[in-house]
Parts: sequence; structure tokens; C-alpha cells
Amino acid sequence: MPARERLPALNTETPPRADPVVAAALAADAPTALALLREGELTVHGRLTDASNAALYCSVALGSLSAQAVYKPVGGERPLWDFPDGTLAGREVAAYELSAATGWALIPPTVLRDGPHGPGMVQLWVEPDPAAEPLLDLQDPRGPEAGWLPIVRADVGDGRTALLVHHDDARLRRLAVLDAVLNNADRKGGHLIPAADGRVYGIDHGVTFSTEDKLRTLLWGWAGEPLPAEALEMLSRLAGQLDGELGERLVPHLTAAELDATRARVAGLRGTGRHPLPSADWPAIPWPPV
Ligand SMILES: Nc1ncnc2c1ncn2[C@@H]1O[C@H](COP(=O)(O)OP(=O)(O)O)[C@@H](O)[C@H]1O
Ligand SMILES: [Mg+2]
Repeated sequence: MPARERLPALNTETPPRADPVVAAALAADAPTALALLREGELTVHGRLTDASNAALYCSVALGSLSAQAVYKPVGGERPLWDFPDGTLAGREVAAYELSAATGWALIPPTVLRDGPHGPGMVQLWVEPDPAAEPLLDLQDPRGPEAGWLPIVRADVGDGRTALLVHHDDARLRRLAVLDAVLNNADRKGGHLIPAADGRVYGIDHGVTFSTEDKLRTLLWGWAGEPLPAEALEMLSRLAGQLDGELGERLVPHLTAAELDATRARVAGLRGTGRHPLPSADWPAIPWPPV
């Protein structure tokens, strides 16, 4: 029986919920979170979605420390024609390593390890802050309102259109820069997690690092605009790190061509000094957007 057939069913019972405040504090303490994720005992509660790639909701415990996590076993991955090399789990870990090297810590601590369904990625669960201000909105098509940036005009039925917008927010702008470096093909609304400490984390980075331009995101609000000074500084540091320790850490997860393409994207962003433009004349938007 193939590994993915043995995966647990979609969750029906109520699994242990993560406390948003505790989860945010642990996410911000990467050394502690990484030790817990690497060495802790994993208990699988069930599948999160019926998506083609298995994402399992888990608890992880080590001594007096415990947390919730998502575990994506490599054996639960379906082959993707446009990502023929490596694994989704490996790219998730590579994306985490790169995010950690930026100093911006935009992705929850993530490791590659063995688990009850074989090797896979394990990522700290960051319970969304129920009181967080929305990051996306649908507004009048003549908009956007002040403080919001347009993504696309969307058909909302009955012949009406609305403007899909994202917040004009420095946290999202950092994620937009990270996604340009990662070549993220799947930055939808559900992949933005507002943590209780005010940070916004990005999740689900299995379709990243392609050698072809696949940037598919909602965060087009700054397309073509000059990168902020902090982004240029970060990219300059990142270029050095990709030629050094970070580059070595990515080698097990990416092909040589994917690593070269990552260096080239960083060089390209530094060269233009601008946020990328969508590759076609219509923004490359994940659909559905949430
Ligand atoms: N680290 C995490 N913290 C909080 N929620 C998460 C995390 N990872 C996944 N989720 C939740 O689980 C859902 C499914 O996970 P995702 O990584 O998007 O898997 P899939 O590959 O199936 O799309 C997400 O949309 C999100 O709601
Ligand atoms: Mg997803």
C-alpha cells in the first residue's frame, strides 16, 4: 500500500488547540522551537485538509515543553509535474532557512525529521490571533480606500465586481520581498497567519524555488515600486549568505540550478531595486485567493 494511503483521516474530533499567545512566543524563540520540533515526540491528531498533499495536525512534546505543529510527510506528497526535483517538505525547510537568514523571521520554525509516517517537515503551529485586523478586504471597485492597495477586480456574482485589496502594511511588504526571493507560487490569504504578538507569518512554502518565474501571490500592491531601504540591506546580506553558510544549508533541499536561480533572483532584485512586476499583463493571483 503506498505511504499516502496509510495516512490518518480528516480530523473529526476536536484536537488540542494552541493558545495564540503561547504559540506566538514560541515562534519568536527559534532555538527553543527548533529543539522541540527536532527532538520532541510527535502525536498525530488528524489531517488538516483533503488537499492532495497530506498536512497533519500534531502535538509535539519534549520534557515540560509542548506545542502544536503541522507535519507533512514526504510519503504523503503527490508528484507535481512543474516541480520534478526534490520534495515539498524539503522546499518548506529551505524556505524557512532562507527566511531565518533574512533576520525577518517570516516563517514559523520548520525542520525536516522522521515521524510516525516517515520523514517529513514539521512546522510550529502559530494559532492565528482572533482579534487581528484583517489583512485582505473586498472593497468598492472604484477604491481602494486609504491604507489599502489594489490586487485585482473580482467578479462577485450577479454581474457585480469588487476590488480585492490588501493592507498597505510593512509586514506584508517584507513577505512580498521574501516571496520574490523564494519565487513563491502560492501566496494566498490562508497562507498569511497573524500571530498574537503582532507579527504576520507566511506558511505553506512547498511550491517555491522553481527555476522559472512562478511568482503567484496576492501581495502585488507594491509591484514595480522601489524597494524600501531595509529590503535592499537585507538582500545585500542575503547575497553574501547564499554564497556562504546559507547556501550550504540549502544544498540538501534544492538542485544546483534552483540555488543558482535563487542567487540570480536576489541579484535581479538588487539590480532593479524594485518589487517585481507580474510576468503577464494580468497579475498572477492564486485562485481562490483565500
Ligand atoms: N504553521 C502553521 N500555523 C498555523 N496554521 C497552519 C500552519 N500550517 C498550516 N496551517 C493551517 O492549515 C492549513 C493547511 O496547511 P497548508 O500548509 O496550507 O497545507 P496544504 O499544502 O494542504 O495547502 C492552512 O491553510 C492553515 O490554515
Ligand atoms: Mg495551503
